[in-house]
Amino acid sequence: MIRLMQHADIHSVFNIEQQVQSHPWSLKQFAEAVDSYQCTVIEQQGQLVGFCILQPVLDEANLLLMAVAPDQQGNGLGYQLLEHSIEQLPNQPVQIFLEVRESNTAAIRLYEKAGFHQIDVRKNYYPNPDGTREHAVIMVKACSDDFAALFSSP
Ligand SMILES: CC(C)(COP(=O)(O)OP(=O)(O)OC[C@H]1O[C@@H](n2cnc3c(N)ncnc32)[C@H](O)[C@@H]1OP(=O)(O)O)[C@@H](O)C(=O)NCCC(=O)NCCS
Repeated sequence: MIRLMQHADIHSVFNIEQQVQSHPWSLKQFAEAVDSYQCTVIEQQGQLVGFCILQPVLDEANLLLMAVAPDQQGNGLGYQLLEHSIEQLPNQPVQIFLEVRESNTAAIRLYEKAGFHQIDVRKNYYPNPDGTREHAVIMVKACSDDFAALFSSP
């Protein structure tokens, strides 16, 4: 089941985040996100196993963060969650942007499968635990139906 994230979910979300990110978001950041952005979670047998945070900005959106629990990865849940979260945005955006670590092949493949493509690289954007830095790949998904809707408005 996919549903909106509640404040009561934040500890479960934070637990997943800590398992998958070298620089995880804090509990406070998740609490602020629930109040400000579109935050969704996916459950399996009543257990929260993934989350996705989208920030609508005017007629665009930013994908800020998403993750699936390590023992649930590779089962199609991330794709399902991402597609559903985009569909559920209150005002369908013209385009959606994201940044992802250059080495994060799994996420980049997922985003490509969901219709994103690379438009730029932000050099030395992410810090690494060893003090070095890693480039960010910037990707965009053009929501073409929405372009059409914009131009057909009276
Ligand atoms: C990225 C992430 C959310 C993908 O979730 P997932 O549930 O494992 O992904 P899915 O099973 O839905 O896979 C969807 C597609 O992603 C790609 N993919 C997923 N895992 C992959 C891997 N290990 N290697 C290469 N491609 C992979 C594939 O294209 C796959 O489609 P396919 O099965 O038809 O080949 C998950 O790996 C994760 O939580 N990673 C850690 C957190 C993170 O990096 N978040 C994104 C940056 S904020």
